[in-house]
Amino acid sequence: MTRIAVYPGSFDPVTLGHLDVLERATLIFDRVIMAVLENPAKSGLFTVEERVELIRQSVNENPRVEVDTFQGLTVEYARRVGAAAMIRGLRAVSDFENEFQMALMNRRLAPEIHTVFLMTSFSNVYVSSSLIKEVYRFGGSVEDVLPPPSARAMRRRFGREDSDHALQGERT
Ligand code: PNS
Repeated sequence: MTRIAVYPGSFDPVTLGHLDVLERATLIFDRVIMAVLENPAKSGLFTVEERVELIRQSVNENPRVEVDTFQGLTVEYARRVGAAAMIRGLRAVSDFENEFQMALMNRRLAPEIHTVFLMTSFSNVYVSSSLIKEVYRFGGSVEDVLPPPSARAMRRRFGREDSDHALQGERT
């Protein structure tokens, strides 16, 4: 039996934190589908197509990983692809409340699909796409928390192709 998991998210853009969680998921599941939400109510920094492309370029042809997009409820998508589980990354305690609510609501909607929480490595605990975008927007750069395709895309998006990354963050 092939064990399939869906790893849903915005991935705007994909970070090393996401890839860390993804890699852990591939140790448990035979197929992991990174599913990018197409959310008409929320426009991101990158289009959904760009986000998919950045994930594809960042996952290095791992045969267990697929990338897809979906609309609507995540549990409906998970059912359609025959997933037994949905993966969510847990960072600090601050993630817990929201993730707990979502997991319980998803369980109510689809009791046969389990939410599996995986912890990122310590170095990625405070990495989030929204924080990274904010830092870029105000002139900083934190490329050590992004895979090279996302880092290049951020530089292009913020017109910093020639940047010497003077404000680059240090890994802590
Ligand atoms: O990367 P994000 O933004 O934290 O991902 C959130 C996401 C996409 C997993 C969540 O918003 C979601 O599942 N949206 C799809 C709609 C849905 O199923 N909503 C009910 C959640 S209980």
